[in-house]
Amino acid sequence: MPRKPAVFVTRRLPDAVTERLVKGYEARLNPDDRILPPEEIAAGAAGADALIVTPSDKITAALIGSLPESVKAIATFSVGYEHVDLNAAKARGLVVTNTPDVLTDATADITLLLMLGAARRAHEGETIVRDGSWKSWATTFMLGTHVTGKRLGILGMGRIGQAVAKRARGFDMVVHYSNRSRLPADKEQGAVFHANPDDMLQHADFLSINCPASPETYHFLNAERIAKLPKGAIVVNTARGTIVDDEALIAALKSGKLAAAGLDVYENEPNLNPGYRPLKNTFLLPHLGSATVETRNGMGFKCLDNLDAYFAGKAPPNRLV
Ligand code: DGY
Repeated sequence: MPRKPAVFVTRRLPDAVTERLVKGYEARLNPDDRILPPEEIAAGAAGADALIVTPSDKITAALIGSLPESVKAIATFSVGYEHVDLNAAKARGLVVTNTPDVLTDATADITLLLMLGAARRAHEGETIVRDGSWKSWATTFMLGTHVTGKRLGILGMGRIGQAVAKRARGFDMVVHYSNRSRLPADKEQGAVFHANPDDMLQHADFLSINCPASPETYHFLNAERIAKLPKGAIVVNTARGTIVDDEALIAALKSGKLAAAGLDVYENEPNLNPGYRPLKNTFLLPHLGSATVETRNGMGFKCLDNLDAYFAGKAPPNRLV
């Protein structure tokens, strides 16, 4: 019998994914889920044919250069892949895959949670219920921002942006979007396209960031662009923290230019800018966009579908390089 390919996994996987992995592969696991430094990833990869990595691993050119020759493929347990140096991987002849589609709904759902939570002051409300400082119902008590019928600007109208738009229509929101290319009418569904994202900002009572992290989108939302948003706008980010200039966002939340922000992702997470923590008008989650059992299983199975195809000599369905 041919030997099973060996797969080194940098973090703990959901049980259902581990079960499938061990059936098809010689699995080298990290059951205590410690984040491994690059030298431990390289050492763990000794003799492995493939790696499963996550956004918490930095797969840099240096690390790729230190991987043993046996490693032929890297499956990242994520749709985002900015943590993997694709140029270095390509130069080394490595196949790299990701996990699109399966996390679209979960991420769109949490975008709506952030919009509603930020607009309706969920953090403040939850705090006073829990700490016992809630005094009474009152006509002017803890008033938030109305969501229904407002204008939503979506930056990045890929799968997740479109799923956010679909949900927002359920709230009668008027959808504006900016994307590299305009969507066909059946996908646009009446949303207003802005070829230049800067032109969309003045129409965004809510701004939802759903584009990938890239050198082009680094600190897209800076002070100059925040100034273009309507006063009292609300910003939500479920994409990547690097798209936002934290100092500019914090200043706008403090000055009242922005009413609130709902954030699931942060530059340098989990070490987010400490300026967010004391702000009552933030609704903050710890990168939970894809964190449902169904979605995380789906992501793991996609990693395995890609590796199965690669080791069967077929094209992996989600090949990046
Ligand atoms: C991804 O897959 O890139 C997500 O950020 C993980 O939730």
